[in-house]
Amino acid sequence: MRWTSVSTSGRGLAPDGKRLPHLGLTGPTGPRAKPPECDPTGSVSVGSWPGLGGGGWSHGGKLLRRFQDQVALVTGGGQGIGEATLRRLAQEGARVVVADINPAGAEAVAERIRAEGGEALAVTCDVQDEAAVEALVQASLAHFGQIDILVSNAGVTRDNLIHKMTLAEWDQVIQIHTRGAFLCARAVARNMVSRQRGKMVFLSSTSALGNPGQANYSTAKAGLQGLTRTLALELGRFKINVNAVAPGFVDTAMTRAVAERLHLSVEDFQRRAVERIPLGRLGQPEDIAAMIAFLCSEDASYVSGQVIYVNGGRSN
Ligand SMILES: NC(=O)c1ccc[n+]([C@@H]2O[C@H](COP(=O)([O-])OP(=O)(O)OC[C@H]3O[C@@H](n4cnc5c(N)ncnc54)[C@H](O)[C@@H]3O)[C@@H](O)[C@H]2O)c1
Repeated sequence: MRWTSVSTSGRGLAPDGKRLPHLGLTGPTGPRAKPPECDPTGSVSVGSWPGLGGGGWSHGGKLLRRFQDQVALVTGGGQGIGEATLRRLAQEGARVVVADINPAGAEAVAERIRAEGGEALAVTCDVQDEAAVEALVQASLAHFGQIDILVSNAGVTRDNLIHKMTLAEWDQVIQIHTRGAFLCARAVARNMVSRQRGKMVFLSSTSALGNPGQANYSTAKAGLQGLTRTLALELGRFKINVNAVAPGFVDTAMTRAVAERLHLSVEDFQRRAVERIPLGRLGQPEDIAAMIAFLCSEDASYVSGQVIYVNGGRSN
């Protein structure tokens, strides 16, 4: 596969492609061992799709390529739901930007997508950092020329009961989820508004409806529902759809860490969770990715300002 490195014209990028604070760009085989070959036209690399051998989604025997010629940026893409979303969008033809605070995670996911025949750019970015988010969007535009889809997915939990919760735990969760989503939406909207097209999806949670030990997280996730509805009102005239997906229990590192905090084995913790889920199984990252892909597709072109719960039937 041919790979063309990122144009270095983006703000915050060192000419040799080395990572700046809060922003890193890495090549297809890990951190760049040599300076990138700059494409003076700023044009995009083209990876070949190997056909069905590389995977792919079909409906009625027809290969789904709903995101052909589109570019998707997913924050928190280095693992979990973000990774599954990136892989799904790439398998359906999108060129993707894997943004994550963890450079190794971002690069590993980008490399996996390339190995599957897709085209991916890894960018290290802390979504709380205004300059880093601006640089992320500039790097994405310099590399791919456009952004059609934003999935604002980066997140953390810092659970504690209210009388024990520190201000740092409160601030960190609120900042990453709400400030991060705001910064990403604002930066990406400029490109989408000028092109009069785009899809945004924010990751909310069933915790928005209330969950003990998560005053910070449930506040942030409820806030994202307000952001979703407001941006749908503001951006609809520019043909931009804005929706939120609110997962229930999904088997990722985030929920496995809860088991550890509760001094339970992962198996026990998951078994107890499954007992409360009407559909009788844990959510998988691919379940959430499928809904995000639907919301980003033309099948959902008249869906905006909605919060879709994907939770196996249990909302709280
Ligand atoms: N797992 C669940 O059960 C569940 C349920 C509801 C909602 N969600 C939401 O879905 C999203 C993804 O969750 P997950 O389970 O895949 O979590 P995860 O912990 O597996 O992945 C989160 C990713 O976000 C990245 N990240 C964290 N802080 C960041 C920052 N400041 N800037 C950029 N990247 C950052 C992490 O490095 C990681 O790669 C989160 O917003 C989460 O709140 C998850």
